[in-house]
Amino acid sequence: MENIIPHDFHIGKTDRNKLNGHNSFVVWFTGLSGSGKSTIANQVENELFKKGIKTFSLDGDNIRKGLNNNLGFSAADRQENLRRIAEISKLFVESGSLVIASFISPLEKDREMIKEIIGKDDFIEVFIKTSLEECERRDIKGLYKKARAGEIKNFTGIDAPYENPINPDLEVETEKENLEDAIKRIVLRLEDKLEIR
Ligand code: PPS
Repeated sequence: MENIIPHDFHIGKTDRNKLNGHNSFVVWFTGLSGSGKSTIANQVENELFKKGIKTFSLDGDNIRKGLNNNLGFSAADRQENLRRIAEISKLFVESGSLVIASFISPLEKDREMIKEIIGKDDFIEVFIKTSLEECERRDIKGLYKKARAGEIKNFTGIDAPYENPINPDLEVETEKENLEDAIKRIVLRLEDKLEIR
């Protein structure tokens, strides 16, 4: 950008990772509303926090009610929502945290943008694969019922698209796999990348 000259700070990610004793990166959970993203992300964070990892969770509640409270659910607003979240995630990675992000992030092109912003070496994508039928059956927040009744427009899976990730790093089929096993599997993969020392 013209006339913007970044200052060269002396302390960087490598220094912070050394101080913290582990690497920092983003684990990004994608899936339909009610698929189990936040539940799984929360338990993964609990496990890693207990082991002394610097974690930070980002999800709809702390972002859409604050920083992004001017955005809705049109395709353009979702893209801007995700762009800002990716930029924030990148800052937290720079600060030395393992960022645990849980967002529907329904479109492949937007997930590509996220990966591009964060950098593919600092990004692990986890697809929480739960069928629309099951999410709708659970309907924990009652939003599917409202969407079917036409009270919510552009609801993912009903009248807005969700594109399954083509090649996620990890996939959890919540209707088939035991939750505890899935969490262990994710934690193991993250520990590998964290290189705890
Ligand atoms: S996105 O598509 O990634 O920008 O969405 P995200 O920021 O993750 O927000 C999803 C949560 O917002 C609630 N909600 C909706 N979801 C989908 N479509 C519409 N129209 C909608 N309106 C509100 C919903 O509770 C989502 O939370 P989760 O945790 O995914 O169930």
